[in-house]
Amino acid sequence: MKLIEDHLAIDPPEGVPVWDVDPYSESVLANPNPYYAALREQGPFAYIPRYAILACGRYDETKEVFSDHTRFVSSRGVGLNDFRHGKPWRPPSLILEADPPDHTRTRKVMARALSPKVVAGLREDFRIAAEAIVDRLLQMQGFEAVADLAEAFPVAVFPKAVGMLDVHARHLVDYGAMVFNGLGPDNALRRAAMARAPEIVPWITAACTRNRLTGDGLGAIIYEAADAGEIGHDEAAMLVRSFLSAGVDTTVTGIGSALWCLARNPEAFAALRADPALARPCFEEVLRYTSPVHTFARTADCNTEVAGVKIVEGTKIICALGSANMDPAKWDDPEVFRIDRRPAGHLAFGVGIHGCVGQNIARAELEVLLTVIAEKVAAIEPTGEAVWRPNNAIHALDRLPLRFRPN
Ligand code: HEM
Repeated sequence: MKLIEDHLAIDPPEGVPVWDVDPYSESVLANPNPYYAALREQGPFAYIPRYAILACGRYDETKEVFSDHTRFVSSRGVGLNDFRHGKPWRPPSLILEADPPDHTRTRKVMARALSPKVVAGLREDFRIAAEAIVDRLLQMQGFEAVADLAEAFPVAVFPKAVGMLDVHARHLVDYGAMVFNGLGPDNALRRAAMARAPEIVPWITAACTRNRLTGDGLGAIIYEAADAGEIGHDEAAMLVRSFLSAGVDTTVTGIGSALWCLARNPEAFAALRADPALARPCFEEVLRYTSPVHTFARTADCNTEVAGVKIVEGTKIICALGSANMDPAKWDDPEVFRIDRRPAGHLAFGVGIHGCVGQNIARAELEVLLTVIAEKVAAIEPTGEAVWRPNNAIHALDRLPLRFRPN
């Protein structure tokens, strides 16, 4: 049995093209669309010899693999490491990296904490924070939108919603980026992320304990489930950790990408200003168009077949969600950003039992923020080049210099 990146090194299945590409090279990660197009061209799957894995990027197969949790499991890791053969760098997530029945139990508790009713109660706080930040930016000649807005807003609202008493803005943002880089191969990005673990992980772990949370936040709802015996108290701490690994860097990325789309498409921003109710469909299109989570993996837990391709047990399959969201077989003119497209079925929040449990809160954050921007800002003007920050699982901006022109 040969292992590569701590997963089984499979041979190319019959009929699958062998494609010598590195999907985790920094040039692909910074500008993934050409790679996505070439991946879809290969067929339903491509075999990537460098990692001895399969990759898929057409909409139908990506959706099939990503959503069929019985054949393609998450408990063996959603990155390249197969937890059956390699040691995870941190204790696996009790929700993201779990299968039923374990997943069903933890998912129920998380879904309760992030329910539409709970999220509705947060919207007023979101609006107050969004207005304060946008008002401040309107006073400036120019600002760095990643730090000053995309990071500033979630860091202002999310730890408060969770009920955290300790807020370390940098650690909160960087923890997510670190976890996502950890899903890739042993490349420079992953090594740099792991080098920061000793500094960040103990802080995150301490910040998730019950005595560092208020009694009225999302974290308290999780600990109440532990009091009721639904989960253990140690599990509660880990689920609160999931809020922080999955809930900060992702929304930071979503906000940065939304501003990038609107700055490049002034007619879309004009439409949003004319009708701020477009904030919600606008965010859905941002998600489709930019796919904050570009790639997650699954592991085949049995011998099976997809699109006529025989897949053996232990195969790691990287699913390029960003590619599926750009597949012309699914979307008309996928390369065109259309604020009113309403792209039902996009895979940016995943699909199936693992579909993003935080999507209500992510949508509420973006909807409120985009509405405030639409109400107060006359134009979003780029003042320099946007720079993307390569990450093994997230497609995120590093810098986005902008100016808000006041009404
Ligand atoms: C723009 C923002 C976001 C994006 C693009 C996003 C994307 C995703 C995706 C693609 C998945 C599926 C993973 C898989 O199937 O392997 C997922 C799952 C998850 N997300 Fe999000 N997410 C976002 C925001 C959030 C927020 C704000 C939270 C927490 C409050 C959150 C918590 C989670 C958790 C805990 C899971 C695992 C769910 C499960 O396995 O059942 N996410 N997210």
